[in-house]
Amino acid sequence: MTDHVTTHQSAEDARNEDILIWLNGQLVPKEQAVVSVYDSGFMLGDGVWEGLRLYNGTWAFIDEHMDRLFEAAKAIDLDITMTRKEMVSAVLETQSANEMTTDAHARLMVTRGPKTRPFQHPGLSQQGPTITIIMEHSKPSIPRPIRLATVPHIRGLPMTQDPKLNSHSKLNCILACIAAEKAGADEGLMLDVKGFVNTTNACNFFIVRKGAVWTSTGDYCMNGITRQKVIDLCRAHDIPVFERNYSLVDTYGADEAFLTGTFGAQTPVGEIDGRVIGDGQQGPVTTRLQQLYKALIEKAA
Ligand SMILES: Cc1ncc(COP(=O)(O)O)c(C=O)c1O
Repeated sequence: MTDHVTTHQSAEDARNEDILIWLNGQLVPKEQAVVSVYDSGFMLGDGVWEGLRLYNGTWAFIDEHMDRLFEAAKAIDLDITMTRKEMVSAVLETQSANEMTTDAHARLMVTRGPKTRPFQHPGLSQQGPTITIIMEHSKPSIPRPIRLATVPHIRGLPMTQDPKLNSHSKLNCILACIAAEKAGADEGLMLDVKGFVNTTNACNFFIVRKGAVWTSTGDYCMNGITRQKVIDLCRAHDIPVFERNYSLVDTYGADEAFLTGTFGAQTPVGEIDGRVIGDGQQGPVTTRLQQLYKALIEKAA
């Protein structure tokens, strides 16, 4: 299989060559937006980040993204040195400098900053955090339902590197993605420590069985904002929804499967480990949830 697609595929947009990047309080052209080789993020993956999306002038669920960012920074004992309000202002400043009004995606990154010596100890990061916002014109363009492959890389226990954290280091997820691609799929389906189906390497995962929506218990996966919105939408619209343990047997036999994430909202899954899910096309429950999610975004604008 050579026609790989990714869950974060977007239409080419030449304007992205001329964007301004927010880097430690300055807006700089893309080619000048560089950080030190001593940066904790570059050297050790020591940082946290958020992905945000602009729809019709509004950054979707920005409060939830700020909650998660500041919670993650506290968890890794990283002082962001900016308030939430200042962080939101920086996002708006970058948006305005780039004259973006809709269909933009922002990656907001905070690392422990430059180190005085090239070693691990966090005490060597003495200059304060490196904070950047990359904001690109971005319209998801995923040409067909996604193919998944179950991979040997599992979602670990929270005392190792809590898989809930949006940490800079994503090596476990990257290895999962590489394994899936080598198996001819687009993205890796990851199991939890007990062997239950959990999440994919870059999105949260749902199945639909007999009109009911199932997702993992929420242990071991990213506490996805889109995941929570989908669960809330199901509850508000009388669609049965279960956060529960389930296996690959339940998954292969599902009528529908889809992924959630800020970038792609709800992305249909057509095939898992060579088994066609439903008829391999986007199913009616996925379509309904896409419509409800779109309406939710419009209401929030
Ligand atoms: C591993 C993983 N799962 C799920 C998500 C989706 O989360 P959200 O819906 O908050 O974008 C992300 C996004 O950062 C992720 O990295």
